Amino acid sequence: MTEKIIILDFGSQYTQLIARAVREANVYCEILPFSKKIQHDPSIKGIILSGSPFSVNDPNAPEVNVTELIEQTPVLGVCYGAQLTAKQFGGRVERSSKREYGRAILHPQQEDSLLKGLTPASQVWMSHGDSILELPAGFEVLATTDSIPVAAFRMIPANEESPSTPNPLYGLQFHPEVYHSIEGKKILRNFLVNICGCSQDWTPAHFITDTVEALKKKIGNEQVVMAISGGVDSTVAATLISRAIGDNLHCIFVDNGVLRKDEFETVLATYKQLGLNVKGIDAKKEFYKKLKGKTDPEKKRKAIGKLFIDIFQQEAKSIKGVSLLGQGTIYPDVIESVSVHGPSVTIKSHHNVGGLPKKMHLGLVEPLRFLFKDEVRKVGLELGIPEDLIARHPFPGPGLAIRILGEVTEEKVHLLQQADDIYVKALKAHKLYATVWQAGAILLPVRSVGVMGDERTYEFTVALRAVTSVDGMTADWAHLPYDFLAHVSNDIINSVRGINRVVYDISSKPPATIEWE
Ligand code: XMP
Repeated sequence: MTEKIIILDFGSQYTQLIARAVREANVYCEILPFSKKIQHDPSIKGIILSGSPFSVNDPNAPEVNVTELIEQTPVLGVCYGAQLTAKQFGGRVERSSKREYGRAILHPQQEDSLLKGLTPASQVWMSHGDSILELPAGFEVLATTDSIPVAAFRMIPANEESPSTPNPLYGLQFHPEVYHSIEGKKILRNFLVNICGCSQDWTPAHFITDTVEALKKKIGNEQVVMAISGGVDSTVAATLISRAIGDNLHCIFVDNGVLRKDEFETVLATYKQLGLNVKGIDAKKEFYKKLKGKTDPEKKRKAIGKLFIDIFQQEAKSIKGVSLLGQGTIYPDVIESVSVHGPSVTIKSHHNVGGLPKKMHLGLVEPLRFLFKDEVRKVGLELGIPEDLIARHPFPGPGLAIRILGEVTEEKVHLLQQADDIYVKALKAHKLYATVWQAGAILLPVRSVGVMGDERTYEFTVALRAVTSVDGMTADWAHLPYDFLAHVSNDIINSVRGINRVVYDISSKPPATIEWE
């Protein structure tokens, strides 16, 4: 039985950070919307209540019954979660005269296992408009800051004052999960270990053993088909499924003609080394045919998506007895988000080619459904997948087709592949690859005049793009060194016939996007 922590989400922008901090402490956790009823389950070792953009005094403030929760497990309220707890037990929470955002120094008032091992004046990060002005009866302050009287508190334990208290109950007015709360992770760890008694055994190796066992049980003798793309998620997912069922997993890797230079051959070779039962399909010509004459980015995307589905379906049909579809879906794609300001527009929903499983009437196998991206990488390394593949930048499904502005032709793909390859190899050689989140070259639909030797040239321009980001939702242009850019520009212009000008994109997202189309 895997122990777990439940994080009840009240809509804070930091909820996923709490989950990641818990996972970093090698404790498995799940995020659920606050409205989800928590059924009694001995594997749940503790519950954390997240922050929220609401005030507890709003008429439509989201609520849970904290009394019911502590009947089951220890509870820790964070920010809104702490205010809600204080209010429900009879404390006073009010709009602060001064809203408190940013750095504060924590002053512990008494010894407690939650704050154990903290330095005397630890920096924490605040972000709240309300403050707890009075604690309920039966509660006590554990720490203050210079501007608030209650920064950390607990319900006084049973043996001291209230014999009926079922489980420990704590609250923190600050956000232990954010980077600027210097010892925040220690506090969360204290909650997990000292208070909830978690054994911290949720490691990549443990995950692999458990998942392979579960997949064997779930899949039995069925056949699974899966599209793999050379990306981290699909590779790790396929390798896990293959560990469980061997060649009953049928992987399909399609060359859509808009992959990076040599990508199809290199990745296919890696897949074979990993022991995957994979079929590589060279469909370049078919894709170029469908892209002919198309200049609108969305039409290009749709054409690629549709042809890909057709090819995949045709291949899947030719495999006898397939009843399941493997997918590399990861946790951020499936967390049920609490809609506070209306439904949030995620990258995935408008980019992913939807509809594959429904149309095909196949059940789903998604072994990474509960992992964050960094955890997928750790699992991948533990599975022996080469680091090169694990550390890859994200690459869009429609590939170079959305990096060739306007109509895509085989010749243009060839030009861009060469420029992109020089750029990416140089990033790696100069140890810059890992410092950026995503990089690539874009072929612009303009020609300009240049001079080479005595000859006048009239050739294409490429734009180089490199961004830093956490999730692709917002991004800044990477401040790559001028010397490096000069070197790449020279190299591209001298080696790629057809390109005589290189520019660097210095736009951030928003207002620009990462891709140019
Ligand atoms: P934008 O250009 O929207 O890109 O700032 C954000 C992230 O999404 C990727 N992207 C795509 N991925 N299909 C994909 O699978 C697409 O059509 C697509 N368009 C953009 C982009 O590479 C970046 O990582």
